[in-house]
Amino acid sequence: MMESSRIALPIGTALDRFIKNNQEQFQYASGELSQLLRDIALASKVVNREVNKAGLIDIMGPMGSMNTAGDQQQKLDVLANIRFTRALTKGGEACALISEETESFVDLNNEGKYVIAIDPLDGSSNIDVNVSIGTIFSIYRRKTPVGTPIQDEDILQKGSEQVAAGYVLYGSSTMLVYTAGHGVNGFTYEPSLGEYVLSHPDMKMPEDGKIFSVNEGGYHTFPEGVKKYLSYCKEKQFVGRYIGSLVADFHRNLLKGGIYIYPASAKAPEGKLRLMYECNALAFVAEQAGGKATDGKRRILDIQPKSLHQRAPFFVGSKQMVEMAEGLLD
Ligand code: AHG
Ligand code: MN
Ligand code: MN
Repeated sequence: MMESSRIALPIGTALDRFIKNNQEQFQYASGELSQLLRDIALASKVVNREVNKAGLIDIMGPMGSMNTAGDQQQKLDVLANIRFTRALTKGGEACALISEETESFVDLNNEGKYVIAIDPLDGSSNIDVNVSIGTIFSIYRRKTPVGTPIQDEDILQKGSEQVAAGYVLYGSSTMLVYTAGHGVNGFTYEPSLGEYVLSHPDMKMPEDGKIFSVNEGGYHTFPEGVKKYLSYCKEKQFVGRYIGSLVADFHRNLLKGGIYIYPASAKAPEGKLRLMYECNALAFVAEQAGGKATDGKRRILDIQPKSLHQRAPFFVGSKQMVEMAEGLLD
């Protein structure tokens, strides 16, 4: 590994340059993974444009109007799925795509070495009310040889096998945050340049925090341990913050210190969030930033998925807060 590559790049460095400069940090030192990240970034810029027009799309939708790309107007989460699928198909580095929006995985029928899991638009209930939403992505290397049919072992990989993962937050500004297993870096979109630029180098989640993020509407159906932990947070007069967009809640807690909880409940014994395209990516980012992610019993990244849309209870955030919560669970 070249020593020069370890020199930290300054704030303001463009994402493309940053990825290129850090290429040899990727497990397989391949230009393909760099290209894949660039494809995701490019698609997210297109989605960002659509997200910013969300109000207009809503007004124009019933007219059956076409957008600039000539597509029929679509619900934004379907549109985001189309944008990412298209970018990854054209890119050719990914051979298969797992998405919240498709029942089974999509075989991209190419020689790509990577498998992508994606929540194209997270927090979609917040679109109509102009609140932050996001995209979540995980990147895996396919296990079986290129050119052979895609197998379950290529698709159903544990989070610990991720080679890179991250999210895009369409918030008061748009940010892309990712890890390739060597720390976490955050890039802010500069619309006049059309570029993501490094704004949050080597992000670290505070070891402890005071923010707890949970939808307490389901309180009476939560496990006893979760109720105990929430009582503890209130006794300590911690700060309750819940946006209802996982990416946005996670991002705030990453910067400020906090815990996000979506527990199992009597209504949803496996919780609500999806292991493969919601929990795993954020668990990887959290760990790389010094935080922790568990389903209450197991490290999220160690869970062997059995199906694409499998759910998991999710406790993620500052290490000490997650450990405290975990200690109270049965
Ligand atoms: P999605 O929009 O991709 O379906 O995800 C919604 C998720 C997540 O973003 C959020 O944290 C959670 O659902 C909110 O659920 P509740 O409304 O039950 O709190
Ligand atoms: Mn989601
Ligand atoms: Mn979604």
